[in-house]
Amino acid sequence: MKAVDYSVLFEDNFKVARRCASEGMVLLKNDNELLPLKEGTVTAPVGRDCYNLLKGGGGSADVRSPYVKSLIDGLREIEDSGKISVCSAAVDAYNETNVYDDAVIDEIGRKSDVVLVTISRFSEEAFDRKAEKGDYYLSNEETALFDQLQKCDSVKNIIVILNLAGVTDTSWIESYSKIKSVLLCWLPGMEGGSAIADILCGNVTPSGKLTDTFAKDYFDYPSSLTFVYPYNKTEQRVEYSEDIFVGYRYFETFAPEKVIYPFGFGLSYTKFEYSNIKFESDESKIHISIDVKNVGNFSGREIVQAYVHAPLGELAKPVCELKGFAKTKLLEPNESQTLDISIDIASLASFDDTGATGFLAAYVLEKGIYDIFVASDVRNQIKAGSIYVDETYVVEQLSLKLVNSAVMRMSQDGALVPNVIGNAELDEFNELKCSTNEKIMLKDVADGKATVEDFVAQLSDDQLIELCQAQPPAFPRGTAGVGNLREFGVPNAQTADGPLGLRKTTPTTCFPCPNLMACTWDAELQYEIGKAIGFEGISTKIDILLAPALNIHRDPLCGRNFEYYSEDPLVSGNAATAVVKGVQSQGMAATVKHFAANNKENLRWLSNSLISERALREIYLKGFEIVVKQGKPWCLMTSYNMINGTYASANHNLLTGVLRGEWKYEGAIMSDWRNSVRQFEEILAGENIKMPFGYPDEIALTQEMLQRGVVTRAKLQQTAIPVIELILKTDVFKRNDFGPLHRIKSSGKTSIKAMNLTGVSATWCAAHECLDDDGGYNVAELGKDRRKMDTYIIYRIDVESAGKYELNARIATADDRCFLEYMIDGEKVAEAKFEHKSTAENPYQDWFDVATSIDLPSGEHRFDVMIRTIDEDDLNGISINRIEFSR
Ligand code: BGC
Repeated sequence: MKAVDYSVLFEDNFKVARRCASEGMVLLKNDNELLPLKEGTVTAPVGRDCYNLLKGGGGSADVRSPYVKSLIDGLREIEDSGKISVCSAAVDAYNETNVYDDAVIDEIGRKSDVVLVTISRFSEEAFDRKAEKGDYYLSNEETALFDQLQKCDSVKNIIVILNLAGVTDTSWIESYSKIKSVLLCWLPGMEGGSAIADILCGNVTPSGKLTDTFAKDYFDYPSSLTFVYPYNKTEQRVEYSEDIFVGYRYFETFAPEKVIYPFGFGLSYTKFEYSNIKFESDESKIHISIDVKNVGNFSGREIVQAYVHAPLGELAKPVCELKGFAKTKLLEPNESQTLDISIDIASLASFDDTGATGFLAAYVLEKGIYDIFVASDVRNQIKAGSIYVDETYVVEQLSLKLVNSAVMRMSQDGALVPNVIGNAELDEFNELKCSTNEKIMLKDVADGKATVEDFVAQLSDDQLIELCQAQPPAFPRGTAGVGNLREFGVPNAQTADGPLGLRKTTPTTCFPCPNLMACTWDAELQYEIGKAIGFEGISTKIDILLAPALNIHRDPLCGRNFEYYSEDPLVSGNAATAVVKGVQSQGMAATVKHFAANNKENLRWLSNSLISERALREIYLKGFEIVVKQGKPWCLMTSYNMINGTYASANHNLLTGVLRGEWKYEGAIMSDWRNSVRQFEEILAGENIKMPFGYPDEIALTQEMLQRGVVTRAKLQQTAIPVIELILKTDVFKRNDFGPLHRIKSSGKTSIKAMNLTGVSATWCAAHECLDDDGGYNVAELGKDRRKMDTYIIYRIDVESAGKYELNARIATADDRCFLEYMIDGEKVAEAKFEHKSTAENPYQDWFDVATSIDLPSGEHRFDVMIRTIDEDDLNGISINRIEFSR
């Protein structure tokens, strides 16, 4: 079998990645119009990061792209087209550091017109960034380099490229007069270097605008007071005492002087003029139209933002809030376009969680004048019109649900009942009874011959629990599967991360990080990225994408800010909606995550986000509300943290009350991986799938809770329904894909390529490219997983005739203490030990056969290859290329 060349199949997506990268980069400074570079400019990339651009962050968002273009690669491409050239003195002097001799810098200065310096900052999940030199602040080495460049007479101009995982200190920029231009490229994906070069030389006019505020200092952010760093090892109380005043809502209201680059800001090479602003309003909507004209000398695109200035009443309010935006097409010089922005009047309301307005637990429009402004950024606003509310009124009456959220509470008769506050729908279900004695296959449901309810009603308790647990991944290093109830025709839908593209062991496109995607303010482009990821998913048989992620950038140090969009919920919700629609247009499920208030990473399993209900609803849940209502994601992932003392995944009021009850969410809800909550608590709260796979102790506890009546069979049935519906929607069901079934011939040889599996144990199994003629991948690097569980590979076999077979596994290993155990339908049937001690330079290419004999029953069976080790505590490493049966 010849392997698919994904670099060819996904080529169009690489172009989308490049286009998005250049559309979302933000030009922060451009004195004397240094950019775009004039023809013939000699550029000198100086310092380590010009040669090693960070494409993305780490953790589950890390994408294995086929290549990454750094700044130097991008410059070389432009050099090839003859526009600019690269200073060879700079390239020759590159020494993997930022440390140069003065004489070298002088030579580079003399031989070039501009010096380019890149500042890169990495970040990854489970760790927050630090307000220290080398992370939030410049390192001593970086400062020394700028000092040296500034001092050196021959250096004329400096251009800074900010290659950042999140907001980072920029206060130093103004202390170096030679820094004329600054381009923020965030983590721009695999095509980043080309996209930067496209902007530098004017192939693309920058049009990105900030979706976060850059303040003068980290400690200017109000969240810095409570972000908890350094941390201790107990529960972390994180008080969101700034309440709704997040990002520009805080800075514009209380501390405008502390801002360097305001929200919505971004320069262009051209200029735009706004005119002919029209404002109309009716009962429910405000309509604004505005003519935008390109009055400069370059073609370019403009983003127009609309802000509301709400009247002060009983509730605290920021001076302004973003309520809409639109982006022009590419306008040639002198070309105009009319942009339309419409705003729901209901979206101007505030949530009253104290009753101060007289309307407790309601979205309230307080009386007074609401001025609406159009703006090129939060600081440059032009009044478009006003609406007048003469009497305070309720836009939506809800109930308080998120303050005290214990899952269960004891009732008068001593029984534990779900703790439902206010008017959330009660989840009292009757047990479903199947209306037929015939076995119902999932296809019967798809064909309309049976209902999902009947399908679920026929399943045993254990089968229901199985459905509500994750399943083994069907590819190495996979995250987990969902479904997998073969006897009822339910396939195993595969999940994969994530926000920057598909994370697999085979190459996929690494798109720019979501904070860059957001800065495009371009829903069509965000949709295209979603579509591209969906295409890659379906092409590689991944049916559930673990993205988009849309938590709010509450604090610059959150380790996952690069996976999230913005400090603003409208920007986040709209971007996620576009991505979800794009992904799902391909038949792949999108999973919006992490629901909710996951705004820091250190000790995320213990973190307790203490937030007012108002801030939750207006800021931290708002983006999710937008994407749930408008994007209709098929899946949602809860977060690790607690919200006001209750874990998000066990929070009945959040999941059943708000998400399903108020927002009418109908998709499946999954937990995050190995969180701190037990499955039965999640079932009670309304969650459907426990990730990442069914641990025996977890299953046993759920069974026990079922026996004790804490979880009812009726509840379990309801929990399984969205899982079934999810599978029905995805491509795996339409493909009728149960993974490869290997027919074992009754005579001669049957050879199975190791990669042709239907499942592997979760985390510790990778795939290596196979250097043999047959190409493809070997299953490799097996060992015990983090919970010290043995790893295994699952195949499905169909044996023509029962009998004794010779079994040869072709393996390579440096470790002669490991051995293989073979299981048929969960029972050990044979083992294969060996004494091969490799002396090869690369023992993982030193292949040999391990032979044993095995009794096979006829017909279809599950066949597991377990990797065991003689020494219980040891990890072992092994590569498997193929398994061969002969008779
Ligand atoms: C992350 C999720 C991710 C999952 C699977 C977890 O650690 O928090 O965002 O989808 O791993 O990789």
